[in-house]
Formats: sequence, structure tokens, C-alpha cells
Amino acid sequence: MPRLLIQNALVIDPARKLEKKLNLFIEDGRIKSLGPGFPGTARGSFELFDASGLWLMPGLIDMHVHTREPGMERAENLASAARAAAAGGITSILAMPNTEPPADSPALLRRLSEKAAALPVNIYFSAAVTRGRAGRELAGLKALKAAGALAFTDDGACVENSKLLTKALRLAKKLKTPVLEHAEASHLTGPGVMHECARARRLGVPGIPREAETYMVLRDLLLAGATGGPLHLQHLSCLESVELAAAARRRGIRVTAETCPHYFTLTCEDVRNAAFKMKPPLRERDDRAALIKGLADGTIDVIASDHAPHPAAEKTKGMIKAPFGVTGLETMLGLALTELVHKGVISRLRLAELMSANPARILGLKKKGGLAPGMDADLTLIEPFVEYRVGPRFYSRSANSPFIGRRLKGRAAATMVAGRFVFRRSQILR
Ligand code: DOR
Ligand code: ZN
Repeated sequence: MPRLLIQNALVIDPARKLEKKLNLFIEDGRIKSLGPGFPGTARGSFELFDASGLWLMPGLIDMHVHTREPGMERAENLASAARAAAAGGITSILAMPNTEPPADSPALLRRLSEKAAALPVNIYFSAAVTRGRAGRELAGLKALKAAGALAFTDDGACVENSKLLTKALRLAKKLKTPVLEHAEASHLTGPGVMHECARARRLGVPGIPREAETYMVLRDLLLAGATGGPLHLQHLSCLESVELAAAARRRGIRVTAETCPHYFTLTCEDVRNAAFKMKPPLRERDDRAALIKGLADGTIDVIASDHAPHPAAEKTKGMIKAPFGVTGLETMLGLALTELVHKGVISRLRLAELMSANPARILGLKKKGGLAPGMDADLTLIEPFVEYRVGPRFYSRSANSPFIGRRLKGRAAATMVAGRFVFRRSQILR
């Protein structure tokens, strides 16, 4: 195994609230030591990496990624998702189970995990809560956990049957495995394709009311309170959702929450075409402000991409017919740096909590999310002040990003997984 000394990086470790220019010594895929000068442990031969001017964080963990394999490989597969993640500075991803067929069987999870093991970033899997994601009966959660599932979710759809979600939360509590909820009342969404607002009326398309989300967030929190089950709310988009999550937590309910870069960057007024169509939809200025405040004050625990690739032929069918979803693996870090860190809304340490330490804790990844000796050498090196435009080319198989052409500041300079570089900007400058 290679040994490596990363020198002169600004090391940012949220687990120990540490932010300092230090050298990091890596051996056998793990962090061996961290300190000023040359570590005493660094005897014999090793490689040197000069990280002057770079920020070094524990590897980013994106707990909401649609990898599309099996069945929708025209949009993405495990290998292309892994490359896109590496280029985005992400070292671990959690794959969503809304594939074809859905990931609701231990056999499929095992097959996918075996395939993923050969890829450059860590790919973990979530499994469906209900059989076939059909919302009628529970999947075999215990067996799915034994097959490696780190979470249960019907993402893409909500577990709308309250009795089933109650059962799932009770089991999830026993299994110490979170339920990730896509909070959406489909009867309130109806035929809607974007947020119900003046912009939707101008565009002449049906709207999705905010209650489609907030009603289910409230229901989910009530059931989490009743069961004590570990609930994680995915992709929050509404002010009321943030307030409800904060209130629930004050009452001691076990809940964690996530939002995505598009919700803290854009609003429904930005919607121009189906590249801006996703679920939940982009909301209003007050919603965006509440999400940003929630990210800063600790109400929201996680930034995840909800990377949802779709082929261009599908995404160009217009606002009504195009599928919901935007790509995000390659823009998540740049947007978080540009919109949150550089605007002074959150600190670098908070960024590392939101994108690494907290997802590691929620998913039970004990050797990730921090930089203490003994932790996995999964690292994200950031060039914080470089300015560039997004796209139009991506490592992902799909390019349905609403951010193409947008100017960003800061991105991954290099990505390391288990002590090996899986991405280095200098080698692929285009
Ligand atoms: O916009 C979305 N796209 N939201 C989801 O919940 C699912 C996702 C997809 O799978 O395309
Ligand atoms: Zn979702």
C-alpha cells in the first residue's frame, strides 16, 4: 500500500472542530498521523503531495444519489456515477433504490455491492421500504439490512400509508437503520410540474402546492414521535418543513433533515424549462431563506445532491412531459462553496459537518466523516477560490443540470479514497 504525506493543507476536521495548516500522513488506506512538520511515523519511503493553498476535508458523503443501475443505464450506471462523484470531490455515495427492478431484494443488493466494490468511490446502497416500492407491504427489512442496506427509502415516492410507515419506523429502530422519507402527498401534487406560484401561472403549467410536502413532513414527524424510529427527511424545500423539523427536535423527536443545492440557490422564478423541473419543486424566496437559515443554525443536518440523471431525449420533452430530476454530483460542492461559504452564511467547519460528518453519523459509517488517526483516508482537497463556469461537459452520463453556464467559485482539486487519488484536477484540465 502506498504511503503519502500531504503537506501544507488547511486541514478542516469537523469532528474535532479543528482548522489548521497541518501535514497529514497516510498509510494502509488510513490516516496515520496529523501534525505540524514531519511526523515521526514517516520513516522509510513515501510520496509527497504539496497541498499549499488547498483546503482538506474528510471525504464528502452524498447520501442521495440516483445511480440508475439496474434498468436505466441510458441515464447513468454505477461506474459513471462513481466517476462523476470523484470529479465532484465526493468519496462516498448512497444509491437510491428506484431502479428497474427496484432494490427490494437481498440478492440484488449483493450483486450491486459486488459490482460497486471495484469502482473508485465507495457506493453504499439503500433498500426499498415497501416491496417493489409499491407502498402496499413492507419489504424484508431485516434481510435487506443483512445484505448491506444502510437505509430504507421508497425515494421517488413517499410511504403514504401511515400504518406501513409506522411499522417501518418500529423495525428501523430495532435495526438501527434510518428511514429516509421523500415527503410528498401525491394527491396534493396531482398533475403539478412546478411550484404553485405566479411563475407557474405565467408559464401556463399546473402547480404543486407547498402542502404536498409540509402535510407529509408533519405526518412523518408525528409517526417518528410515536415510534421513536430514526426518521430522515429528504430534500426539504419549504419554510414550514424547516420550522416543523425544528419544533419536533425541540420536543425530543429523533429526526434529521436534508436539503439540496438547487433549493438553497434557485427559486421558482428561475424556472425556464424542464432543466429546472424536479421533485420537490423550487419554491419561493422565503423558503430559500429559511433553508439557508436551517443549514446555518443546525436544523438541517445534511446537504445532498439528489443527483437524478435523465437522458436528454427525455428531458427535452417540455415542462409537462419531461421527467422530474436534476443532476448534481459535479456541482454540489461548488454551489455550497459559492452560495454558502463564500457569502459568509456558513463556516468551512459547518460545510464539512453538512457534507461529511453528519451523513457519516446518520448512515453509521464510523470510520468516515473525520480526520482523526485511524479514520479512513477518504479526503476531499478543495481549490477554494478558483472561478469557473459549470459544464457543459460532465463525467455523468447525463447533463440535465439547471446550472450549466453558471459562474461558481471553488471546487474539488483532488479526491482520495482509501489513500489513493481517484481524481486530480491537474491531470484532466479541459
Ligand atoms: O426530482 C426527482 N427525481 N425527485 C425524486 O424524488 C426522484 C428523482 C428521480 O428518480 O428522477
Ligand atoms: Zn425524492
